[in-house]
Amino acid sequence: MKGLVFCEFLEMVEKQFGYETVDQIIENTNLPSNGIYTSVGTYSHEEMFALVGQLSAKTKLPVSKLFYAYGVYVFGVFGNAYKDLIKGHNNAFDFLCRVEDTIHVQVLKLYPEAELPKIEVRSRSNDCLELVYTSQRKMSDFAEGLIQGCLNYFNEKASISTQLLVEDRSEVLFTIQKEV
Ligand code: HEM
Repeated sequence: MKGLVFCEFLEMVEKQFGYETVDQIIENTNLPSNGIYTSVGTYSHEEMFALVGQLSAKTKLPVSKLFYAYGVYVFGVFGNAYKDLIKGHNNAFDFLCRVEDTIHVQVLKLYPEAELPKIEVRSRSNDCLELVYTSQRKMSDFAEGLIQGCLNYFNEKASISTQLLVEDRSEVLFTIQKEV
């Protein structure tokens, strides 16, 4: 995983829980990087799971909630940092349908070592979109947060429901139903 993902995570923790918490979770986690990340460096996604696990132990919030919150937060950051990638999409569904063939393709050009999931469109109508997430990193809670962050960005209201397609969470169906 790219270092920028870690840097943004630690920044969110600092904003929401304070610098002491950042310090403590890095101290208490056995990290090959020692918690020193540069945005262009590449680190194992297991370090992210270890950090989120420590944060969960400290805050008593479930790991899934923390990954989700991180996804919501990071979409807000991307919304600023990657304006050019987002402009040209008129609404959340248009954007979400282009993550696989446009957004992450551009990300790979910027960061050839990025490890990205597959985000396939299973079906789409005016008010309902079904996306299938596939990744051996099993970060579907993060994906759900990014989808929510995208809805927030476009100021749209929808409910997101999830269904495991593979028990180990490597394949998850998201049904995004617009609220009228
Ligand atoms: C402007 C929008 C977006 C940008 C710039 C972006 C960029 C990135 C980057 C840089 C990574 C880290 C790759 C790595 O560190 O190796 C990543 C991972 C990921 N992205 Fe996106 N992304 C965007 C939108 C989305 C959306 C809307 C979704 C969900 C539908 C999504 C799902 C994910 C997931 C789940 C991962 C974690 C890796 C995995 O699960 O295998 N992304 N993305």
